[in-house]
Amino acid sequence: MAKVTGLEGVVAAETDISLVDGEKGHLIYRGYWAKDLALTCTFEQAAYLLWHGSLPDEETLAKFTAQLKTYRAMPEHIKRIMDALPQDMPLMSMMQTAISAMSTGAFAWPPTEAQAMQLTAVLPTIAAYGYRKQNRLPWHEPLDHLDHTSNYLYMLSGKLPEAPHAKALNAYLILGMEHGMNASTFSGRAVSSTQSDMASAVSAAIGAMKGPLHGGAPSEVIAMLDEIGSKSNAEPWIRDVLSRGGRLMGFGHRVYKTKDPRAEALRLVTERLTADDPWFDLAIHVEQTAIRLLEEYKPGRRLYTNVEFFAASIMRAIALPTPLFTPTFTVARVVGWTAHLLEQASVNRIFRPQSVYTGPMPQETNT
Ligand code: CMC
Repeated sequence: MAKVTGLEGVVAAETDISLVDGEKGHLIYRGYWAKDLALTCTFEQAAYLLWHGSLPDEETLAKFTAQLKTYRAMPEHIKRIMDALPQDMPLMSMMQTAISAMSTGAFAWPPTEAQAMQLTAVLPTIAAYGYRKQNRLPWHEPLDHLDHTSNYLYMLSGKLPEAPHAKALNAYLILGMEHGMNASTFSGRAVSSTQSDMASAVSAAIGAMKGPLHGGAPSEVIAMLDEIGSKSNAEPWIRDVLSRGGRLMGFGHRVYKTKDPRAEALRLVTERLTADDPWFDLAIHVEQTAIRLLEEYKPGRRLYTNVEFFAASIMRAIALPTPLFTPTFTVARVVGWTAHLLEQASVNRIFRPQSVYTGPMPQETNT
């Protein structure tokens, strides 16, 4: 019997939050094309949409944005915990530790929108604080007059961001916010289904996000492109990896069997930002070469660029250092996770799948 692995094709929940159609290459958030939202909305508008199911009017948005800002500052005990963590601890692990330490009485079951807002607002602060601590850089408290995305960039660099950079990152954060029953969302929903608190569920989701097959891919995309280095080296390099059975980072997806719509939207945004950048030119050449060679080495598998390939290009274009790639994906995805936790609570039944025992049976004994 074939081994049952990866839960492929298993439906774990019904959801109103997003539709991921892997055959058509569609990604819809609450009735809107995600790619349109990415090019026209702010982070705050898209987060409101995912939590509420409709876009906010002007007055509601103003109130919502103001409330989100009140949650940006890190609680004192979180700062102390982060200060005590080893300098070389991976940033994702620092973020996971800090978020699990948010799990005080205010986060008791059932999950609420205020809790979702609190975790979403504080996570960029935690990521930026951890990054600056790791690099022994002075800390800058959040700035109230900046929106969510610009403030994140400000806390990371200590400088007011350029508008095109904030716009590009805003598009990436919206496209990264939500993606159906991916590994981290599934992990969060499973934890929440036990009536554990929202901070614990998000902490579990961060643990899943950290892995290179999920949120850890963009840094590896940069490493791959740096190693390839030139257009002439692309084909031999890729052939070498594929002939040894290796994987090309930023390609392939469990659900998408056609172009990943997030990758397409991000390619547009990156093109605008990096008109004559030779690095982006190389990235496009590597994409085309890899798709051709994947068809040769893995015929019929339908492997294309996924979101991580262009996420890497965007983050490089806005000069975000590689160790911040997965944390930044997390700063986006926390919105989707918390939307799912709210939804899970509204229809909750504990997650309890089955396994098929394939081990030995006890020896018959004569008693
Ligand atoms: N490079 C080379 N071969 C690949 C790749 C790749 N990137 N992706 C899949 N394959 C091959 C794989 O070797 C297998 O071949 P065979 O049938 O000969 O054994 C076949 O395609 C199917 O692979 P799979 O592992 O069964 O596919 P999966 O659905 O379990 O894996 C994936 C999906 C994303 C983990 C995988 O495509 C991968 O490892 N990609 C590289 C890592 C990456 O870019 N991850 C980011 C994913 S997008 C972010 C997100 O939404 O979470």
